[in-house]
Amino acid sequence: MIYIVLGTQWGDEGKAKVIDYFAKDFDFVVRFQGGANAGHTVYVGEKKFVFHLIPSGVLNKGVSALIGNGVVLDIEEFLKEVEMISRAIDVSGRIWISNRAHVVMPYHKLLDKAKESQTTNAIGTTQRGIGPAYADKVDRLGIRIADLFTSKEKLREKVKLAFEVKEFLLKNYYHIEALPTIEEMTDTLMVLAEKIRPFAADTEKLLQEAHHIRKNILFEGAQGSLLDVDFGTYPYVTSSNTISPAALLGSGIGSPNIANIVGITKAYTTRVGEGPFPTELKDELGEKIRKSGNEFGSTTGRPRRCGWFDAVATRYSSAINGIKEIFLTKLDVLDELDNILVCTGYLRKDGSKLDYFPATLPELEEIKPIYHVCPGWKQKTFGIKDFSQLPANAKKYVEFLEVLLGRKISYISTGFEREDVIER
Ligand code: IMP
Repeated sequence: MIYIVLGTQWGDEGKAKVIDYFAKDFDFVVRFQGGANAGHTVYVGEKKFVFHLIPSGVLNKGVSALIGNGVVLDIEEFLKEVEMISRAIDVSGRIWISNRAHVVMPYHKLLDKAKESQTTNAIGTTQRGIGPAYADKVDRLGIRIADLFTSKEKLREKVKLAFEVKEFLLKNYYHIEALPTIEEMTDTLMVLAEKIRPFAADTEKLLQEAHHIRKNILFEGAQGSLLDVDFGTYPYVTSSNTISPAALLGSGIGSPNIANIVGITKAYTTRVGEGPFPTELKDELGEKIRKSGNEFGSTTGRPRRCGWFDAVATRYSSAINGIKEIFLTKLDVLDELDNILVCTGYLRKDGSKLDYFPATLPELEEIKPIYHVCPGWKQKTFGIKDFSQLPANAKKYVEFLEVLLGRKISYISTGFEREDVIER
């Protein structure tokens, strides 16, 4: 059985909790794109775990966590995470990295930071070197995990080839003087190579074999569908494909037999960084939602921009992903509101209506949402585990979203804990 579980909005939909919820029924949990730009927070009892690279499903005993070829790996960050988890649970022999995954190098992070701070149209990246690392991958200048196990000479050659032009750029265009040398970077890689050797494998083969003997495999998406490099709000996107087909590409599983694609969808909308956000609330209400939803980035700590649910955007991303069911999260954050608005369409400047998510920035920036007003329920839903126990207006809200999305909302999360889930 293969499941793909991913976010349908701009990230931060509460994926970690959902993945942790599903993982108990799976043998493998797989990351297939992105890198340490992701931040997945899981609460187990009193303990809080923040994951950036390792699939959060690893917290379940017996689950193997696999980082696929589609990921760009910050090795030091990865090792820190292994240490963090190992303090709480035994993960030996349960974490794997693809030999074909690309390494995020110090110059990728320097370039990401320099570009962001010295341009007039910053993307608001996490500055984790993600864009430059993927750029090197497609430019055939990337260093892959398997390269670390060749020889120091070969590795130095690769570092030299990748760094030469960037060194010139960093020094002469971005005026950054403190740069690592080729020798230093090669030496560091040689040390890191020994530390990650036990984790490196031809993970596509592992997965193919596991699938062949009918193991259950869960793909864990990072970021969100509206940050996809092709279908998101380009150029205000991340540098990978975040949507469901990327699970096959970014893992090499070799089978398109996917049993379920679950879209994790927040009951309202948030976005971090720059870029269009038609239903954004720039007032006190946005602030109120930010506070009650604790909407601050788990990777960068940045306050997330908050707004109403955008059914046009979410219907668009659900279609692109082939979403079969929705897992609605953070419904309880709306508990205290008098009215809850839902964007059901857009209005162009000329007054004409639009019911599809537009491709270009000028269109996205110009449109105004058309709202439907749903009465609030003004009661606590926190921790409710049975749909029938929800206040009538909360049920109506969920059912209204279902109609707009054309998909069943099969699960509703009502709190932090693993158990705070309504199954329908
Ligand atoms: P990058 O992925 O660091 O290059 O950042 C590109 C855009 O994606 C920025 O707007 C980031 O805020 C956003 N982004 C990257 N990772 C995440 C995430 O895990 N959650 C939400 N937004 C993200």
